[in-house]
Formats: sequence, C-alpha cells, structure tokens
Amino acid sequence: MKKIYITRKIDDQVIDQLKERFDVQVWNKEDTAVPKDELLHQVKDSHALLTMLSDKIDQEIFDAAPHLEVVANLAVGYDNIDLDAAKKAGVIVTNTPDVLTDTTADLTFSLIMAVGRRITEAAEYVKQGKWTSWSPYLLAGTDIHHKTIGIIGMGSIGQAVAQRAKGFNMDVLYHTRSRKSEAEQRFNAKHVSLEELLKESDYVVMLAPFTEETKQMMGKKEFALMKKSAFFVNAGRGTTVDEQALIEALQTGEIAGAALDVFEKEPISADHPLLSMKNVVAIPHIGSASRETRLTMMKLASDNIAAVLQGKKALTEVK
Ligand code: DGY
Repeated sequence: MKKIYITRKIDDQVIDQLKERFDVQVWNKEDTAVPKDELLHQVKDSHALLTMLSDKIDQEIFDAAPHLEVVANLAVGYDNIDLDAAKKAGVIVTNTPDVLTDTTADLTFSLIMAVGRRITEAAEYVKQGKWTSWSPYLLAGTDIHHKTIGIIGMGSIGQAVAQRAKGFNMDVLYHTRSRKSEAEQRFNAKHVSLEELLKESDYVVMLAPFTEETKQMMGKKEFALMKKSAFFVNAGRGTTVDEQALIEALQTGEIAGAALDVFEKEPISADHPLLSMKNVVAIPHIGSASRETRLTMMKLASDNIAAVLQGKKALTEVK
C-alpha cells in the first residue's frame, strides 16, 4: 500500500476515506508543527505528503524521499515548497485554489473594516472596563464606504475583494502584472502603476503572492508614497513587505494604521513591535480559516493525492 504522510491533524472523514486505499500516517501532536527530523524520517517511505503552508518542503526533503510522487499543500500559496527541487525530483505539487477565494476575501475585507473603524481597539477598550461614558469622538475611526481601495495583486482573491468593495461604493484601483479587463468592467476597477495606487488609495491591500519579483515590494519608499491617512492591509504573504519599513512608517505617522494576517516570519512573538501599536490589527494567518472552507481544502488536497497515486491527473497542479 502506498503511504501518505499528513503533517497536521485534519478532518477524520477525509483521513478515513484515504485509509480505504492507502496507508495514512498523521503527525499526532495537534498543536505543534511536525519537526523537520520527523518529517525527514517519515518521507523516506512516503509516496505522498499532505503539507501545511508552515512546512518547509526543500531540497533536503526531496533528497530524502525516493518514493515521493506528490506534495499536496493545504493552501493556495506554495512559497513554502521548493518547486525547482520538486521538478528535478519528478514530484507533482498541488495547491488549493478557488475553493478559498471568497473566505479569504471576507477576511481581507474584515481587516479593512477592523482597522478603519478601530474594531479590535474598541473591543479591547470595553473588555478592559474603560468605557465609562459616551462621547462623540470616542474611538472614532475612518469611513470605508466611498473611499479608494488599492489592490496589489488582482488574482481571484483580489477580484473577490474588489467585488466586496463595490458593495461599499468604493473606487477600485489595482496594480498587477497583467491587466484584468473583465475585472475592470465588473468592478469599474482602474489599472494603475504602483506609485499611483499608493498615492491615491485610502486602503492599500496587499494580495500579491510571494515571488522573487514581489519580495519586499512594500518598503520605505513605498510607505512614504502612501497618504498619512491611509491604511495598509496584508492578507497575502508577509515576505512581500519590508516589515522594519512598515514599523517605521507606523511609528513616524507616515501611514494611519495596518491590519495584518501575515508576517515576515510566522508565528510572531508577543514582544513583536507591531503588537504594541494601537493602530495595528494583527491576526495569525487565518485568511482561509472558516470551518466550511478548511474542509473543502482538505478534500481537494486529498483528492489531488488520490488522483496522482492512482496514476491520474492532479486536479489542481501547480505549474
Ligand atoms: C493560502 O492559502 O495561501 C492563504 O494564505 C491561507 O490563508
């Protein structure tokens, strides 16, 4: 029987289904990531890996895995996997696109609302017993409706965010490598240079995937171009941002605030400078984390594995 190694506890129903045809082993400590040594040991006789975006699947892993046929990543992003090494080893890599688009767009939009309307700050204020009287400017935030949103990376999640922005009567600007004419028509979105997007937007939303090209694309110079009243939202990858430059832009008041689902190095520690800032909303990379979507992602990852191990075409191969 071919062996599948799953690096985190996933839904029992998905595991049981795989067990009908394969030998399935699961990292059994629910609250910790599989240590590298254990993964290196497990891949020796594995034909498939079901991995998380927090697992680094590098050359060392491929070198230790002579039988490996497929790595199914439980995420749309796959920057945790060395694609060149996978290709050289003849291993197929799959991801979970489309099924998480709306869920991630919902979360991205909730970050916009949380930072603009100071929701997390206000919730903390009440919980800490600080609410003693009402006043007109108490925790007054910034409007979202009729403002300008600038989306960097207009893939399917970016377009789903644009759709939500239209519902809020926002003007939509976007910056991406290739123009999206359908999105331009549907959301009245305007394709602009990065510079124009940064200068004009009230909410700059980063959704670009991490590549050599997008590495730290938001740096000192880019934050300086943003309006002092604008907010930066990142629900893509933390590595697209120079985090030190973001910290400085927030400290010096160059931008009004930030809402972040992703960070340069995850997880961040409790003493991370961003966490002591009132105008920062920080959450632990939960873009696609709804119960419904997680289950769909798990099923898709498992279907990809089953297909490859049975000599069929993967459903969502990363090319
Ligand atoms: C992904 O799937 O790549 C997202 O970052 C998850 O939130």
